Amino acid sequence: MMLRICLRKNIPYARPLFTESFYRLLSTRPERKLQDKVALITGGASGIGRAAATTFINNGAKVIIADIDQQHGRETVKELGPNATFVTCDVTKESDISSAVDFAVSEYKQLDIMYNNAGIPCKTPPSIVDLDLESFDKVMDINVRGVMVGIKHAARVMIPRGTGSILCTASVTGVIGGMAQHTYSVSKFAVIGIVKSLASELCRHGIRINCISPIAIPTPFVMNEMNQIYPHLESERLVEIVRNVGVLKGANCEPSDVANAALYLASDDARYVNGHNLVVDGGFTSFKSLEFPAPNQVQ
Ligand SMILES: NC(=O)c1ccc[n+]([C@@H]2O[C@H](COP(=O)([O-])OP(=O)(O)OC[C@H]3O[C@@H](n4cnc5c(N)ncnc54)[C@H](O)[C@@H]3O)[C@@H](O)[C@H]2O)c1
Repeated sequence: MMLRICLRKNIPYARPLFTESFYRLLSTRPERKLQDKVALITGGASGIGRAAATTFINNGAKVIIADIDQQHGRETVKELGPNATFVTCDVTKESDISSAVDFAVSEYKQLDIMYNNAGIPCKTPPSIVDLDLESFDKVMDINVRGVMVGIKHAARVMIPRGTGSILCTASVTGVIGGMAQHTYSVSKFAVIGIVKSLASELCRHGIRINCISPIAIPTPFVMNEMNQIYPHLESERLVEIVRNVGVLKGANCEPSDVANAALYLASDDARYVNGHNLVVDGGFTSFKSLEFPAPNQVQ
């Protein structure tokens, strides 16, 4: 309507308005939200990290996959094409993370996005009385210390540029207790705390830091656990059990849902979102039902 009025009255700004609207209507190419950005993703050889790598590249980014798993890392970059690179990285080794960040800078001149995503589950017994401290230390080493070191080295190269977006994968098990073994749950509460603490410093340098808390998704991480708990069940049944946890009718949480959340947080769409935990759980942690019995069921 506006366009038609402008043309008819021959108003001087009719042409730019027309041109802009015309191209917007005709453009079939989706907007590339990370054009020319450089992202480093730990744990990018599988599951959520791999989905994020795919989404980032589809949005114009160059991605460095930093993972301890060389075989899947190399297979992944082969599939993702020339905008993906693999570096071997064990997030428990500070020198590995430091080298991965330095590689990003030497290869692409900058690091715009650091996604601290690598994490492991925990098999300690359910009671605190039986807490296995060796296992506790191992999980903390990867899920918490690895995240801190990732942020440290990303900040080292981002602070001088005064820009950057840091992401971490937390979990719904770090939002409310009782959904996982204590050790894993505690590690994810820590990730959310790290993000809030670090935001207080990094905001002064123009760097945003946020995390994402997904609900259970049948990635290898979860499926290996499920196989151990239910060795007698087929994988289709195990996937069904994981999916049944969700509360949102008509949808299942997929790695691509987390990747889309990561894309949002990494991009300028979230330019004023900082210190935030973006929960991707279909509403699961937002409510509890009282589940009173129906009136006709009680005397
Ligand atoms: N799948 C879920 O249900 C779920 C839910 C919430 C949060 N998460 C979190 O998402 C993240 C990714 O998990 P996923 O589900 O994609 O699992 P995944 O097993 O598919 O991928 C994890 C990746 O991390 C890598 N990794 C493990 N230890 C590492 C180390 N020391 N150094 C570098 N890389 C290492 C693995 O090789 C693997 O490629 C984890 O932090 C996990 O805690 C997963």
